[in-house]
Parts: sequence; structure tokens; C-alpha cells
Amino acid sequence: MFKDAQSFITQMYQDLNKDHATLNGRLEVIQQEIESTGTYYHTQEELIYGARVAWRNSNRCIGRLFWDKLEVKDLRHLDDASDIINALEDHIKYATNDGRIIPTISIFKPNTTFILHNDQLIRYSNDPIVRPILQQIEDIQSSKVQSKFLPWLYTYNGETKVHPIDESIILDVPLTHPQFPKFDALNLTWYAIPIISSMDLNIGGVIYTLVPFNGWYMVSEIASRNLLDTYRYDLLNTVANAFDLDTSKTSTYWRDKALVELNYAVHQSYKSNNVSIVDHYTASKQFEKFEQNENQCGRQVTGDWTWLIPPISPSLVHNWHKGYDNTYHNPNFYYKKKPTKQEDNHSNKCPYH
Ligand code: ARG
Repeated sequence: MFKDAQSFITQMYQDLNKDHATLNGRLEVIQQEIESTGTYYHTQEELIYGARVAWRNSNRCIGRLFWDKLEVKDLRHLDDASDIINALEDHIKYATNDGRIIPTISIFKPNTTFILHNDQLIRYSNDPIVRPILQQIEDIQSSKVQSKFLPWLYTYNGETKVHPIDESIILDVPLTHPQFPKFDALNLTWYAIPIISSMDLNIGGVIYTLVPFNGWYMVSEIASRNLLDTYRYDLLNTVANAFDLDTSKTSTYWRDKALVELNYAVHQSYKSNNVSIVDHYTASKQFEKFEQNENQCGRQVTGDWTWLIPPISPSLVHNWHKGYDNTYHNPNFYYKKKPTKQEDNHSNKCPYH
């Protein structure tokens, strides 16, 4: 533990140009604290910096230009289940910000006994990806889930319970296309904000197990993957018909055309509802800027190519044409659970799972 603490604190204090005496003083305090308690308590500055650098080190994320703007909510004082649930709902409200999404992380105490089983704070109950947890929820409450949004399933002090989310705090975006009323008639929606809740955060050897965090969506996560993957909403044929495409043979390129129109529709829909979203060209440009910034600071950017290329026209963005070193540096986020079989099958091809 001390080794991890030492490397984090040293990196941070150097990055922030703190002097040697301050660094050594802090390391001494930490060493003593670890000797007597087995762990140590991050100052708020360390917590904020650690969470931001964890984002900076997230090899799979194309949105890292904004790493130092991450809003960090220090919630280490909360321990009661109802306080934690309120704070999770506050995260949704704060980060949604009426559509001007604020990248936010809520950090609860590392040894909290509160375990959230949902992999995102917001998911639709009918998304095939939630089937296993939906089943668990229905078993526990002995009735079908009726709500559009999946309730939270959590374990607190060994007891597992269901909490229905207050749906009035969730921003949901109707998907429309300016040229195709038939598409509008499908009445598709997607929620505004992806809030990942399935990862641990390692800062200097301290593992935070409840750390929901969010950015905003890149269009293709919704349009190329969530709505089209055969093991998700599987809507390729449906939207191709709505876009009046000739699906009689592959060589009409109807699949590709449908994919492009759907990306266009999702982008337009979020924009016209004033909800933050980024297209893959802009995201890739921003990532290029991030790479330049990092090089200027003398840091080597690490990345996972298989995740950094967008699932639409990948060869049209710069990421495609270069290699990335996929070494994991700490601080960083790590998946808690072993992936299920299906996730495993697609793990190489599944941006932002
Ligand atoms: N791919 C996930 C989804 O479609 C979201 C992962 C995080 N994405 C992000 N833009 N921060 O729900």
C-alpha cells in the first residue's frame, strides 16, 4: 500500500510543482497512518486530483481532453443507505444540468458496505443488456418491473433491496429525423446521460468501490451500437425501412446508409433538445488536442486502439491511422465484475461498454 501511495503522491506533488519538503512531509504522515491503520485518508486535493488523473489514464476513452474539468463530489462522509441513494439521485440532477451535461464523479468512502449492482445509474428496463439484473430485481420484489427505467438493485449491510428511481429527474431525448416522419413514428428515445457505476477507482492504492461517473455521449455509442447491435435493440432493419432504403440486396449499401442516417438523427435530436453530445469527428479532433497537450507536458498518452476508433467511418479519423500503447497507469478505473460471457465475446469491439 505504501508503495502505491508513494508513487501517486510523488507524481501529483511533482505535477503541481510542490516543493520537496512538502512532499516528504506528506509521505511521512501517510507512512505512519498506514502503519497504524492499514490505510490512509486522501486530502480533498488528492482525491480531486486522483479522480481527474484516473480519467486522464482511461485508455479506452476518447473524451479525455476535459480530464481536468471533472467535477468531483467528495461524499466520503455519507454512510447511511438512504443518504447514499439521495446522493446518487443528486448526481443525476447535478450532472444532467438541464441538458448542459457536467462531467461528474461522486466518490463515497472506500470501505462502504453499500454495493450498487446496476452498471449505469440510468438504463432502460427493456434493454437486453440488463436482462440478468432485471431478473434479480423481479425475483426480489416478486413482480414484474413496469417502469421505463431500471430500478436500482443494491446491497447494504448484507441485505439486498430494490429502489425505484424518481423518473422525473431523468432527461430522456425523443429521437427524430428532419426528413423522415416514418422514423419519428418509431417513437424511439435515448436517455441524456451515461453514468457508469460498474467500476472501482484506484487512487494511490486506495480502492474506492462506489464512484459513479459520467461524461456526455458520443453519438455513435447510441446510434451505431446501442440501437443497432443484434444483442441490444437490433433495429437495423426497422430504421432502414423508416429511411425508405432498398434492403433487397447488400450492394445497395442500405446497412451503411441506415447507420449514417441514424447517427445524423441522434445528433440532431440531442442538439435540438439542447442536450450535450459529440459526434465522432469532433471527439477525435478533441482527442488529438489531448494528445498534443499531454506531449507538451512531457507525458506519454496511453490508449486502447480498439476502443478509440469510432464505430462509424473509423478510417476517416486520425486515431485509426496510429498505434497506441495500452499500458495501464494508476490512478485508474477498473471493472469490478468479471464480464459475462456475452460481454467477453465482444470485449475487443465494444467501445464504452
Ligand atoms: N457506451 C455506454 C452507453 O452507450 C456509455 C459509456 C460511457 N460513455 C461516455 N460517453 N462517457 O451507454
